[in-house]
Amino acid sequence: MADENKPEQPSAPVASAATATPAAGHAAKPAAPRPPAAPIPDLAGKTTTAASQGGAAAKAAAPAAAPAKAAARAADDASPLLNRRQWMGLAWGAFSAASAAALAATGRFMFPNVLNEPPQQFKIGLPSEYGMGVDERFKDKYGIWIIRTPDDIAQHASGFYILISTCTHLGRTPNYLSAESKFKCPCHGSGFRLTGINFEGPAPRPLERARVVLADDGQILVDKGKHYQYELGQWIDPEAFLKA
Ligand code: FES
Repeated sequence: MADENKPEQPSAPVASAATATPAAGHAAKPAAPRPPAAPIPDLAGKTTTAASQGGAAAKAAAPAAAPAKAAARAADDASPLLNRRQWMGLAWGAFSAASAAALAATGRFMFPNVLNEPPQQFKIGLPSEYGMGVDERFKDKYGIWIIRTPDDIAQHASGFYILISTCTHLGRTPNYLSAESKFKCPCHGSGFRLTGINFEGPAPRPLERARVVLADDGQILVDKGKHYQYELGQWIDPEAFLKA
């Protein structure tokens, strides 16, 4: 029977030859417990490669990606801002407008401007169709007044002269005031006598006269391409006045 009061003898350390250190006198540290090993899948009869694993993953992800794509498109179409379809419409609209503008520019280049200005030479009828004084029948169409006078200040004869209805100040069109026997410019108040001589306002010189002759058919022919200026002494030119 063992003696219970006998001091307990320390048991000899149990160490394998592998864990025992050769350094005597140092206590050996206990080994850290290893984590449990993962179960090994049963791959018997199967060959598995990285490529096949990636393909399988892609195949598995493909059905999931399609609904996500559709959901993204639906969210885009439902956006309060411009959606994809509206952006496409805008882009096509801008492209069409640019194409039309380029086409118009090309057409304009191919067909240059045609000026529909009144002719510089024109007939205004027979002398017998006019009475004494100022006639305005061609003022709007040709920009002239036809004046028949019994005694012209430059030619000292009876006949016709043609006044250009352009103010010599800044080019506006004066009005004929029959009650005052004058032409009055509404722009800055220049006034001209029936002869065309300026007498009030800022106009620096008289109105200009146009060439006037008798055509072969007996009508009065006016040529606005040729002007005569009083201050240059040109009103005495034979074609600045038609004697009649
Ligand atoms: Fe005729 Fe100035 S344009 S007065």
